[in-house]
Amino acid sequence: QGKLKIAPSILSADFTRLGEQVQEAEAAGADYIHYDVMDGHFVPNISMGPYIAEAVKRSTSLPLDVHLMIEDPDRYIPDFVSAGADIITVHYEAVVHLHRTVMRIRDLGAKAGVAINPSTPPFMLDEILPFVNLILVMSVNPGFGGQHFIPTSLQKLKRLRMMIDDRRYDIELEVDGGIDPNTAEPVAASGARVLVAGSAIFGQGSIEENIRAIRESAER
Ligand code: DX5
Ligand code: ZN
Repeated sequence: QGKLKIAPSILSADFTRLGEQVQEAEAAGADYIHYDVMDGHFVPNISMGPYIAEAVKRSTSLPLDVHLMIEDPDRYIPDFVSAGADIITVHYEAVVHLHRTVMRIRDLGAKAGVAINPSTPPFMLDEILPFVNLILVMSVNPGFGGQHFIPTSLQKLKRLRMMIDDRRYDIELEVDGGIDPNTAEPVAASGARVLVAGSAIFGQGSIEENIRAIRESAER
């Protein structure tokens, strides 16, 4: 199954100390740095773009896991590759020619991920699975940190885990939204192997202890 990965989402970090917080997460054993890009169109919020991505990349040796919650992501893929993105995930719901977009990401040398919103069924990914490196199941409606986990995401993870394993694809299954020490256990048991967490890591207390609590619960 491979090691369980933790991907702290810096959307909930203290932006006045972004570099330090990223380094703290890395020292605490984080596996990826999850970077949320929002455009105020695909989701009702605006976050950060390629310039800050480039600064984050310089502050860490961890892979940069870029989650594009934007319309027409093709326009910005080259900018995020230049900024140092290792993984670029686009939303199924935001792209018309998904295969073209996925191949574009891979041609530029990054790993390609596809995310689905809570209302999108897993079978919509059937035809794209052979071409992707990562599938991201959104367990909240994208746009904000600190929302509640939607419990039906567990069935979705199980279904996708089966689809991936049955066909022996080398695809990472990632989950994003409402992950904390309570939800980490059931999502890991349902087949998620990369756990994104924002507020549960950067919200309160120590980053190191928060990461450890999520990992311990997920590996139970
Ligand atoms: C939500 C973002 C998430 C967000 C998760 O739209 O994609 O990555 O930062 O935040 P939490 O872990 O607080 O739900
Ligand atoms: Zn995200």
